[in-house]
Amino acid sequence: MCGIVGYTGKREAYPILLKGLKRLEYRGYDSSGIALQQDQHLQVYKKKGRVAELEELLLGKGLHAHIGIGHTRWATHGEPSDRNAHPHVSQSGKLAMIHNGIIENYAPIKQELVSKGYQFHSDTDTEVLLNFIEEIQTQNACSLEEALRIALKRVVGAYCILLIASDDPETIIAARKGSPLVIGIGKGEHFLASDASPIIEYTREVVYVNDYEIAIVKPDELILKNLGNEKQTPYITRLDMELSAIEKGGYEHFMLKEIMEQPETVFDGLRGRLLAAEGKIIMSGIEQHLPAFLSAPRIIIVACGTSWHAGLLAEYLIETFARIPVEVEYASEFRYRNPVIHPGDVIIAISQSGETADTLVALESAKAQGAFIFGVVNAVGSSIARLSDAGAYTHAGPEIGVASTKAFTGQVAVLTLMALKIGYAKGTLAEADYLNLLLELEQVPEKIREILSQSAHIQQVANKYKDATDFLFLGRGYNFPIALEGALKLKEISYIHAEGYPAAEMKHGPIALVDENLPVLFVATRDLYYDKVVSNVQEIKARKGKVIAIITKGDTILPEMANDVITIPEAHEAIAPILSVIPLQLLSYYTGLAKGYDVDKPRNLAKSVTVE
Ligand code: AGP
Ligand code: GLU
Repeated sequence: MCGIVGYTGKREAYPILLKGLKRLEYRGYDSSGIALQQDQHLQVYKKKGRVAELEELLLGKGLHAHIGIGHTRWATHGEPSDRNAHPHVSQSGKLAMIHNGIIENYAPIKQELVSKGYQFHSDTDTEVLLNFIEEIQTQNACSLEEALRIALKRVVGAYCILLIASDDPETIIAARKGSPLVIGIGKGEHFLASDASPIIEYTREVVYVNDYEIAIVKPDELILKNLGNEKQTPYITRLDMELSAIEKGGYEHFMLKEIMEQPETVFDGLRGRLLAAEGKIIMSGIEQHLPAFLSAPRIIIVACGTSWHAGLLAEYLIETFARIPVEVEYASEFRYRNPVIHPGDVIIAISQSGETADTLVALESAKAQGAFIFGVVNAVGSSIARLSDAGAYTHAGPEIGVASTKAFTGQVAVLTLMALKIGYAKGTLAEADYLNLLLELEQVPEKIREILSQSAHIQQVANKYKDATDFLFLGRGYNFPIALEGALKLKEISYIHAEGYPAAEMKHGPIALVDENLPVLFVATRDLYYDKVVSNVQEIKARKGKVIAIITKGDTILPEMANDVITIPEAHEAIAPILSVIPLQLLSYYTGLAKGYDVDKPRNLAKSVTVE
């Protein structure tokens, strides 16, 4: 997600804020800005692009202030632009705020404020929350702190916010729920940030603010309260991490950090969309174009690499639940073979970066033939997102590791929601099954967390096979795309030649490769194909192959047959893939680690392939 910084104290605020924003650049962002309180005025400077461009904008401005806030934005509502960059200023001009997170119920609040005459200068949910706070303060003639408390009890979503007021030369009011906030304790000064990286050079004494807490921060005073206005005792921690470790959230690599944060990122992808208890899926991009999906003679999915694997899984999901024919195309092939596109065809474009040249050009040619394009993209406001007629962001946050992990599970979460929503609307998915699948989907973040707790065991398995020269990944049905994804992960991180195949395909040739040196990984969770997969395992064992099996908790057959097993929690066969990919991500990470490779920046690879 984005980054926030704040300072109040005796020093010049601007240099501290600017340096802090640079420290947070690694988190990924699309725009930045700062607000300073000086002589009873708020000075706000913000700009799309790099922090260096903001710095250039501010050259020669003669900024002198001892309190300020700064923000690097990762857009969720409103494309990256100068006007959507933070900080935002309230209608009165007296408040400035920065925000990390998503306010889910911003739309009805905005309607209420517009009806009261509020005008908005951005497309963001943040500006709505800010004016909501100001409206409450005006209506109740109360303090800013009290107005914030009332507002936060009524908003739904995730936030870390910093607020300053033109009439207060020293106070920053902060609050968090779901997005991190750290406060550095200085002598006559305080530092605030999303993580400790902007703070550690000034102080190692920090307070990690908890969810539902509000902090009133002055140079010489830090008061913590809960939303019930009860004082909380700040718990001061002494930082022992070094800067490089902080940037990776305490993990050794971005790839591991991004694998480990998937319970949260999948939850973020489902947030505001999956209402399992109410039996609802809310996706405005689908609702506004539902007739196009329901009447589509065919759905064509266009993507590359890991995103293509998500697309192949979507084919199985959409054809199963919505009974619409689906074709999954490698973007680079699709664009050059002069494809036949029927009127009414729906194209789903899947891309983490939203900038992949092969996918972008394929879409441009499809659009030229009048196709309707639905984008499943992670980077808000990216080229593919802007080219799409509608879409659903995966909200996985910036993915820094070159190997795609949390973006993949974010894509699968969104694509699963789409298949269920369209299938239920079409009447091809029975209500009981639909409701059951919603509940299954809701349990995914917790089940991912359970799998991640096995990372030590998975590392042992990785170390056991790290010297293999070749690997096979096999799966059937929903698990076949996961076998392909596992093979790609191992290839790109450990440089071991790995291939994914449908498990039954072995007997049509590849089984000739099997001998005592060849590890074969089966994605063998409990599903319709389980018994057949067990037979495939026996075929491999009969030829002295080494078998690693991803199995469902409680399986008593495969542990007797396989050389190694990795267990995942029980789940519906259509939901299991988002779980069974997790061990494969960790397997590739630990194998690359054991071989001493740069797992965040593997050789020959780029994070976003913006060339054809
Ligand atoms: C995945 O681990 C790779 N880094 C690569 O295959 C990637 O998925 C592919 O380049 C597509 O990128 P996109 O999702 O940003 O379009
Ligand atoms: N939802 C806010 C926006 O889109 C904040 C996004 C962020 O966390 O940077 O501007």
